[in-house]
Amino acid sequence: MKIDLKALKIEAENKVKKAKDLAELDGIYKEYLGRKGELSLILGSIKKLSKKEKARIGKESNELKAFLESKIKRKRHVLKEHIGILEKEEWIDITIPGKKPMVGHLHPLTKTKREIMAIFQAMGFEVVEGPESEIEWYNFDALNIPKDHPARDAWDTLWLKTKAEKLLLRTHTSPVQARYMEKNNPPLKIIVPGKVFRHEATNASHEMQFYQVEGLMVDKEITVTHFKAIISEFFKRFFKKDLDFRLKPDYFPFTEPSFDISITCLTCGGKGCPVCKNTGWLELAGAGMVHPNVFKACKLNPREWQGWAFGFGWDRLTMMKYKINDIRLFNSGDLRFLYQF
Ligand code: DAH
Repeated sequence: MKIDLKALKIEAENKVKKAKDLAELDGIYKEYLGRKGELSLILGSIKKLSKKEKARIGKESNELKAFLESKIKRKRHVLKEHIGILEKEEWIDITIPGKKPMVGHLHPLTKTKREIMAIFQAMGFEVVEGPESEIEWYNFDALNIPKDHPARDAWDTLWLKTKAEKLLLRTHTSPVQARYMEKNNPPLKIIVPGKVFRHEATNASHEMQFYQVEGLMVDKEITVTHFKAIISEFFKRFFKKDLDFRLKPDYFPFTEPSFDISITCLTCGGKGCPVCKNTGWLELAGAGMVHPNVFKACKLNPREWQGWAFGFGWDRLTMMKYKINDIRLFNSGDLRFLYQF
C-alpha cells in the first residue's frame, strides 16, 4: 500500500476550506478522522511496515491528524459565528411598534398660494404667470416709469449680465399686467402669484427674493368700490374673520390715484406692538386705479377702459396668517420651522 500523506493533507485541507455548513464539515471529519476514516485506516495498517517506515509514517500521520483536527475545529468556530450573526440579523420582534416613515408636506408659502388662488378663482379671476427674468420695457417703461425717472430708484434692481438683450430680475409682479393686457382685451380679471427680486439688505421683514400676488380688474366702469368689495371678501376668506382694513394715499407711477392697504395688526389686535411698530396697522399691499399711460402702452384706449390693480406681499400675508416674525425663515430650510405647518 502506497501512502501519500502529502496529497491527503492538501485534499483534506481544501475540503475544510470549502465547507459551507456544519453538516458538510462533520462529513469531512468522518471521512478523514472518523473510526473508519482515511487516517485511522493508515494508522491501523502501519503494523505491517518495516520498523523504520513505521516510525516515520506513524509520526507524520499523527502530525497530520493533529493538523486536521485543529483546522476543522477552527472552521467549526467560524461557521457557528456566521450562523449566529445571520440569526441575529434575521430576527424579527413583531411586538415592536413600526417605524413611522417621514412624510413631507407643502411649504407654508405653497399652502397660502393655493388658498389665495382658490379664493380669487371662486370670484372669477384667472391665474396668470410671467417670466422672472424680464426686459426693462415691461418692468418699468410700460408701467409709466420712464428711463432716468427717479421712481426707478424705488425698485432696487438686479441686472443680469446678458449680451443680446438687457435683462433684469423682475422687481415686482406688475409687469405681467402689461404682458397680459397686450394680448388680451378687457373685460379681464387676473391674479399673478410670483417670485420677485430686489437688491436689498435683508432683515426680519426684507428679503432679496420674496413673493407677490398681483391683481388686475379692467372693464368699462370699474371703481374703487369694486376694489374694496373684492378685497374685503378676500380678507374674510383668507384670515377666516371680518377684519378692519384701510386705504391710505400712496404713490405708484402705474396707478392714479394710488393707495396702500393696511389691516388691523393680528398680533396685537390693533392695540400696538413691535410687529406693527405700535401703529396697530400692518401694510400688506399697494394698489390704485390703473394709470391711463399703462393702458396706452398696452394699446388700449384709456377713455374706454377703467380698472384697478393691486400688489400684495404674499409672504407678508403668510406671515400674518401664521404669526411668523421673520421673513428669512421661509427660505432658510430650517426643519424646526417647516415641521410646524
Ligand atoms: N408693484 C408695486 C411694488 O412692488 C406694488 C403695487 C402697487 C402693485 C400698486 C400694483 C399697484 O398693482 O396698483 O411695490
